[in-house]
Amino acid sequence: MFNGMDMYRRDKNVLDLITEAMKDERHDRVKYKKMMELAKNDKVRKQIEFAYKDEGKHYMMFKHIYYMLTGRECDIPVPKIEKIDCLLPAIESSINGELGAVELYRRIQSMLPTIQMRDMLFEIITDEQEHATRFVYLYSMLK
Ligand SMILES: [Fe+2]
Ligand SMILES: [Fe+2]
Repeated sequence: MFNGMDMYRRDKNVLDLITEAMKDERHDRVKYKKMMELAKNDKVRKQIEFAYKDEGKHYMMFKHIYYMLTGRECDIPVPKIEKIDCLLPAIESSINGELGAVELYRRIQSMLPTIQMRDMLFEIITDEQEHATRFVYLYSMLK
């Protein structure tokens, strides 16, 4: 555990950003599940499934980082998500979502105190960049 409550008092902001990230990961996982149900072919569904699986892993990684920083468990309830009844606009908004996540996670990465934590963010950031690329591919395939 890194410095427990001292860390919390000194830098509450990074914890706020981590809980925001956890909320986004939860949201995206639910969204991608719905998109997988809308996908008409396996090739498309597989591409979305990569991201779906990663978001579950990312949530657990952020949860672990939160615990290392505070000694406390943090859980975010599954959020309500927008209605999705058409795949293409959902793919388009996912590209922006993934790129937004990259920005937020770079900020979080720069605020983390250990190499181990920053390496975890590096892994998550490269995953999100991969998701964005997969969604760009799907968008150009389906439009
Ligand atoms: Fe993610
Ligand atoms: Fe993602």
